[in-house]
Amino acid sequence: MTVSEMALGTWGIGGAGWDERPEESRLGAIRAAVEQGVNLIDTAPAYNAGAAERFVGRVLEEMGVRQKMFIATKCGTEFINGGYVRDCSAAAVIRECEESLRNLRTDYIDLYLIHWPDGKTPFAETMDALSRLKQQGKILHVGVSNFTREQMEEAGKFCPIEVYQTQHSMVFRNNEEQMRWAAAQGMGVMAYGALGGGILTGAIRERREYAPSDSRNRFYRHFQEPMFSKIMELLKEMDRLSSARDGLPLSQIALNWSAQKAFVSCCVVGAQSENRVLENTGAFDWSLTPEEDAALEEALARHLAEV
Ligand SMILES: NC(=O)c1ccc[n+]([C@@H]2O[C@H](COP(=O)([O-])OP(=O)(O)OC[C@H]3O[C@@H](n4cnc5c(N)ncnc54)[C@H](OP(=O)(O)O)[C@@H]3O)[C@@H](O)[C@H]2O)c1
Repeated sequence: MTVSEMALGTWGIGGAGWDERPEESRLGAIRAAVEQGVNLIDTAPAYNAGAAERFVGRVLEEMGVRQKMFIATKCGTEFINGGYVRDCSAAAVIRECEESLRNLRTDYIDLYLIHWPDGKTPFAETMDALSRLKQQGKILHVGVSNFTREQMEEAGKFCPIEVYQTQHSMVFRNNEEQMRWAAAQGMGVMAYGALGGGILTGAIRERREYAPSDSRNRFYRHFQEPMFSKIMELLKEMDRLSSARDGLPLSQIALNWSAQKAFVSCCVVGAQSENRVLENTGAFDWSLTPEEDAALEEALARHLAEV
């Protein structure tokens, strides 16, 4: 798969865990992404119990672009009664794959990822199920998400892992070592959350209370103290850099920072409107200079050394 530097993320587009945007806006986001040359859409059954997949399937069909797009979806985590339930058993994987194919209105999934390890199913069982799906042509490539290096080494014994997807941003660097390792093994590395769940765009400058189900409450820790105040300090350096570049959007600085890493193949970016997608895709038209990168690293070391 030769993919664009940005993949469109659809957790928010699915309609749960994020601000709810009107259908027209979510539609505009997908359309704009496709028109800008984004050729990979990342989704999952866990994004509002299949709603994100159904929306993506419908829009790609209406646009008549299924064949030129790559679809990444996942298995092993379901969204049931507002909670995320992990099950990587062969039975669950096979059943979810059939459901995803229906939701996405397609007869093949370009990239099928294990969303999270479930901590109980032997990797041999899950990977064997994925091998079978691949042999049947229902999935074309196999990947894993949120795995440790040790888990990838173990799972990779039973079926080759082609892609590793994990969280990576200026404010979340814990996975860099295993991303580097995965890239060195020849895997494609997808970085999600490069906007820090939106905080690195500079659009949020005051701490807010989010609903308990909101991802900014339960998934990304950037919106709670002490992280929030540290990130606000980092934004000041990003503001300086932006001013020196005629008001370059902060979102582009954050995406550029992540995408420029040699071990990142593509950034998965969630956005629910045309304007935001256009702003985000603009990040790949330019590059941070070594001096700008060094200034950001210095600010990160000063304010966020431990993340
Ligand atoms: N494998 C996994 O376990 C996993 C986990 C998390 C995410 N992911 C994937 O990665 C994708 C991206 O991650 P994410 O969506 O969690 O976080 P993200 O991309 O870092 O941030 C998304 C947030 O940023 C906002 N935003 C986007 N562009 C913006 C802009 N230009 N200006 C201001 N705000 C902007 C979005 O707002 P609106 O939504 O209101 O437009 C949303 O609130 C997900 O959609 C999903 O596909 C995978």
